[in-house]
Amino acid sequence: MQLRINGQHTHADADPATPFLWVLRDQLNLTGTKFGCGIAACGACTVHVDGQAVRSCVTPVSAVQGKDIRTIESLGSAEHPHALQQAWIAEQVPQCGYCQSGMLMAAAALLSRTPHPTDADIDAAMSNICRCGTYQRVRAAIHRAANSPMPSPSISATKSASSGAAPQANGSAA
Ligand code: FES
Ligand code: FES
Repeated sequence: MQLRINGQHTHADADPATPFLWVLRDQLNLTGTKFGCGIAACGACTVHVDGQAVRSCVTPVSAVQGKDIRTIESLGSAEHPHALQQAWIAEQVPQCGYCQSGMLMAAAALLSRTPHPTDADIDAAMSNICRCGTYQRVRAAIHRAANSPMPSPSISATKSASSGAAPQANGSAA
């Protein structure tokens, strides 16, 4: 089936019921998106589908056909990091890093619909689980990004889906 990921059209040969996370990681080598729980509980697998944060471990690949899909690989680059990635580095958010791709994608979806979120907005939107307990730093980094004088690069101004470069703050170790 045909998919549009990070602005690139690509083909996936998968059963329609296959979790989209497996297509991303195993077929398309987009390993920045992580597997944590497989039951939509942790948020490590968060991607954007038509601008909404979606947990790809429980989303069949058939459900994202024809949609605009964005993964952590499109959030920014080492040369041009997203304001959230800059803030993540400034606040030294990542610890082990495993949850951070999903955290960043959830935060990006939040800022796209609520550019200046309150603590309550952040707490409501960020249901991702971090076993290292980075929640306070995540909150601080989201506020920092929201107040950044530098405009965030649009997540739609993306690199290709096949580009492997990833900024330090995206937690994208395979
Ligand atoms: S791996 Fe998808 S929510 Fe945990
Ligand atoms: S930084 Fe380790 S799980 Fe979140």
